[in-house]
Amino acid sequence: MSKFVIEGANKLSGSIKVHSSKNAILPLLAASLLSSEPIEILDVPLLEDIKVLLHLLSHCGCDVKIEGSKLQITPDIKNGDIDVDGVNKLRASILLLGSLLACGKKVVLGMPGGCNIGTRPIDLHVKGLSQLGAEIKLNQGYIEAKVKKLKGAKVYLDFPSVGATENIMIAAVFAEGETIIENAATEPEVVCLANFLNSMGAKVMGAGTDTIRILGGKKLSGCSFVPISDRIEAGTYMAMAAMCGGELELTNVICEHIRPVIAKFKESGVKIYEGENTVRVEAPDRILATDIKTLPYPGFPTDMQAPMMSMLSIAKGTSVVIETIFENRFLHVGELVKMGANIKVEGRVAVIEGVKKLKGAKIEAKDLRGGAALVLAALAAEGVTEIEGACHIDRGYFEFEKNITSLGGKIKRV
Ligand code: EPZ
Repeated sequence: MSKFVIEGANKLSGSIKVHSSKNAILPLLAASLLSSEPIEILDVPLLEDIKVLLHLLSHCGCDVKIEGSKLQITPDIKNGDIDVDGVNKLRASILLLGSLLACGKKVVLGMPGGCNIGTRPIDLHVKGLSQLGAEIKLNQGYIEAKVKKLKGAKVYLDFPSVGATENIMIAAVFAEGETIIENAATEPEVVCLANFLNSMGAKVMGAGTDTIRILGGKKLSGCSFVPISDRIEAGTYMAMAAMCGGELELTNVICEHIRPVIAKFKESGVKIYEGENTVRVEAPDRILATDIKTLPYPGFPTDMQAPMMSMLSIAKGTSVVIETIFENRFLHVGELVKMGANIKVEGRVAVIEGVKKLKGAKIEAKDLRGGAALVLAALAAEGVTEIEGACHIDRGYFEFEKNITSLGGKIKRV
């Protein structure tokens, strides 16, 4: 179990290239199973969650080759029984249900895991896949599923779940006839998956809107694909620069994907200059308070809630943050309070009275984004902070320490 030791209150300045998005790559890995030829995915940061899903693909029988940041996956499903170690380490393992069913496999899949930020049920995945004809049984700790023949259907999602939209899209590619997903998630990662499937020869239309149409039954071929850049990694570094009083340039950014985040930085007095695939951030003398409500895309992303809260904890004035997506996503608050933040939580609402300075403390990362938020707080704080649970942060931020060090931050892993 490693921890970060951070000496704070250093100005951070410089340039960082944002990596490809973990949450975009994970569905691509699951969807790779559908191809009859090798798949190449480029610019992949080898994060823990990605390594675990690759391990599960190997377990199914696929040949996985990693050359630097290039992945080559030669799909060959020998085994639909993946009730194994690893499945419960990440949420995205549930996407193997859609792809294995699409390939006609009988599936035994351990229950997915991931960050402990809410109950995270899988009812929408199950409902959608069942409407395509799958028979799914939920047992204690694992899922059993089979299908004779997937058939296209009209699926209405009660909530625009990102994962359920992706799972149904993947399965529908091999279903007979047309599938229409209504109230679909519109997140950029869903669009990235549609582009990936289409580049393998699928017919997925409307991704990025709330109605997605999939014409099923196509045989898929191989492709070489570059995933989108990580909007949450970009936003996290922007908050870091704003809090640490420097100037930061980010390259490989899709500004369109971070509109709501940019809007909130601007409201907080942070200067943002957009270029073509770049963003420059200039910290203000003092960050200003602002209110945030998390929503499905194109609303403010829940994954940026914790880093923003860290930033608002040293803002001038009172901010209100409402978390509408996950019911338990304030795990970082208690730790920020140990650093001197003044935050009160009631249900899904947090009220933050900004303080001038945070101070170093011994704290613990309990989930990925909350953990990253604590690193930001520690970099801005006076004194030394020790953050246990670095493993949570490793799941989503590639070469985090290296990047922070290159900007002038003092961070060590022990
Ligand atoms: C994805 O999770 C991301 N994970 C999350 O990022 C992100 O926070 C989330 O989308 C929302 O943007 C990956 O892409 C691997 P949802 P996902 O299904 O697909 C409820 C990070 O830090 N729901 O859109 O699991 C659910 O409980 C992670 O990188 C059901 O009720 O999110 C939640 O309240 C954390 N039933 C809401 O919908 C279901 O069957 C949104 O979840 C499915 C979801």
